[in-house]
Amino acid sequence: MSLIECDRLTKRFPISRLTLFGKTEFVHAVKNVTLDIQRGETIGVVGESGCGKSTLGRLLLGLLSPSGGQVKFLGKDIFKLSRREKQHLRAKMQIIFQDPFASLNPRKTVRQILGKPFKIHTKLERPKIEAATMALMETVGLSPAHIYMDRNPHEFSGGQQQRIGIARALALKPNFVVADEAVSSLDLSERTQILKLLKELQREFQLTYLFINHDLAVVRSICSRVAVMYLGKLVEVAPVAALFDKQLHPYTQALISAAPLPDPRATRARKRIVLETDIPSPVSPLAGCQFRTRCHKRFEPCERIEPQLAKVQNGHRVACHLHR
Ligand SMILES: Nc1ncnc2c1ncn2[C@@H]1O[C@H](COP(=O)(O)OP(=O)(O)OP(=O)(O)O)[C@@H](O)[C@H]1O
Ligand SMILES: [Mg+2]
Repeated sequence: MSLIECDRLTKRFPISRLTLFGKTEFVHAVKNVTLDIQRGETIGVVGESGCGKSTLGRLLLGLLSPSGGQVKFLGKDIFKLSRREKQHLRAKMQIIFQDPFASLNPRKTVRQILGKPFKIHTKLERPKIEAATMALMETVGLSPAHIYMDRNPHEFSGGQQQRIGIARALALKPNFVVADEAVSSLDLSERTQILKLLKELQREFQLTYLFINHDLAVVRSICSRVAVMYLGKLVEVAPVAALFDKQLHPYTQALISAAPLPDPRATRARKRIVLETDIPSPVSPLAGCQFRTRCHKRFEPCERIEPQLAKVQNGHRVACHLHR
């Protein structure tokens, strides 16, 4: 059974803008996303800013309620749970944020921050909580000595703060972790260390990650599968090797052709596909394919018919009329 299944998941945000007929307009942040996530995999989500990556992550965690469609966690619809089941689910699904400092309460000590999940979700007594928080510090490679446990978040480096954020996410032994640009604010050496830690923790705790990142090199190094989003829709989903080897969607081709390669000479030699126009507004969706205004391969059906995500090869799905 898949750990998470989402079916035609949709999220619209109402925006207050005066229109001619006084109608409410909507930002179409996530549109008809159907995706299964298997236990133990790391699925990357990539796409330009505003394409709906964070909204998708929050919907899968049940932090936002959908405008349509459903999310199942181990076969159960997460929006139809009893209060008790919901609380249990909260423990099993966690998020790691981009900015570790902003996500940690500056007035609390590390001891308090890491102790809080146990206080809310368990009946453990104080000495047991103390032992559990110290064990968490060790798990993420930080010293559990009292002088550290009594410090506030600002007394740690960016990489250490992210380790504390990860420790907090792991406290209740989750199954599913959304890492939303979790390494993007870190410098290169901290980033490498945190990625290594995330991989080790995955093996140790059998974690499943949804890894949202705009850096394709990072995605390539950590993910087993990649989902490419464009204006709220999935346009291509494939195993990581297949996607970097041969992109089927013209948008994915453009994204990957713009990413730097490890060898700068190879980057210079490569042909780059430049997307000349800006991303269209997510408020007024186009008829047909959403990418057609920027696509260098568009042809007649793209204007009329919206391509659906369909299987092309084993595990490789694409939403493009070129692959019908
Ligand atoms: N609470 C909200 N109210 C209104 N619009 C929202 C809200 N949250 C997100 N949006 C809009 O939904 C769309 C998707 O936003 P989202 O934050 O999911 O994108 P993203 O892919 O995570 O972008 P980034 O890479 O910049 O983090 C954007 O157009 C955004 O402006
Ligand atoms: Mg985001």
